[in-house]
Amino acid sequence: MNLKGRNFLTLKDFAPEEIEYLLELSAYYKELKKKNILHQDLTGKNVALIFEKTSTRTRCSFEIAAHDLGMGTTYLDPESSQIGKKESIKDTARVLGSMFDGIEYRGYGQIIVEDLAKYSGVPVWNGLTNEYHPTQILADMLTLQEEFGDIKGRKLVYMGDARYNMGNSLMIGCAKLGLDFTACSNSKYFPAQELVELCREYAVKSGSVITLEEDPVKAAQGADAIYTDVWVSMGEPDEIWEERIRDLSPYRVTKAIMDAAKDEAVFLHCLPAFHDQGTVIGRQIFEKFGISQMEVTDEVFESDRSRVFAEAENRMHTIKAVMAATLLEDPMHRWEADDGRR
Ligand code: CP
Ligand code: NVA
Repeated sequence: MNLKGRNFLTLKDFAPEEIEYLLELSAYYKELKKKNILHQDLTGKNVALIFEKTSTRTRCSFEIAAHDLGMGTTYLDPESSQIGKKESIKDTARVLGSMFDGIEYRGYGQIIVEDLAKYSGVPVWNGLTNEYHPTQILADMLTLQEEFGDIKGRKLVYMGDARYNMGNSLMIGCAKLGLDFTACSNSKYFPAQELVELCREYAVKSGSVITLEEDPVKAAQGADAIYTDVWVSMGEPDEIWEERIRDLSPYRVTKAIMDAAKDEAVFLHCLPAFHDQGTVIGRQIFEKFGISQMEVTDEVFESDRSRVFAEAENRMHTIKAVMAATLLEDPMHRWEADDGRR
């Protein structure tokens, strides 16, 4: 398997075996990290990390993973660079491509990461766009593999706003890897029909089923994983909260939903989550609408079925694998002729 030179923009671009390889490489790097084995396979390289939206997990994952691999990082936020305002993406791509070995981008339209990839000449990694969040899916799948072993044939149910980055990307990931996927929401929030059809084509090949369902208890039946995400995503206007609360409250992940799933089912969330009043927005919503927990109850979030922090940790191992695989040939077998470092 050789992914050197490839971009990582959406899982649509990757064959199932390539995604499985990235998961295997993630587990490999995770083991090295746990054993405290240095793995600075990319010493001397440098990556640019562009964040036009805020981040905790993705930024930290890219920074730690890059440092573990021996690489330097430069963090660019929208205020401290010329991107978009004074300099086009095409020009930015050519400048950064001449200095860096890879570029991460988090922000708005998918077209921006596509343009960065087109004009920079170096691998570009999608750290979240409105449409897709592919590095998150690798972490989710690694977490499910750690839980269940083989994940083919398992059923993942996504509750909430299923027409945005997380719903779209989970549907693609499940369809490619052979997990049954159910988008459970008010039909206003189902993924675009065109993407559903494309994923159904992937699903035919992998032997899985894509379902759209409005009844949350029915959707949860037989599920191995229940997944949710915030009801209002970054970049969406605050005014939309009222409508989202009204439309999506029936899809809050509660104990009753978890009880409808399989006994061994796990709860997943990409985070950050609104499960209590420990956030500024959470408190504002409580004051305005009187609800103290949104997409998931605190009970489920804190329960022994919740795997959200294992999932968050796996962001780093999987992002490391994505960078290593696209910058190096065969990173897993680099040290077969052992030079004593491993
Ligand atoms: N899940 C995720 O992407 O988290 P951040 O927004 O903190 O990066
Ligand atoms: N849908 C969320 C995902 C955050 C990781 C957002 O775009 O804000």
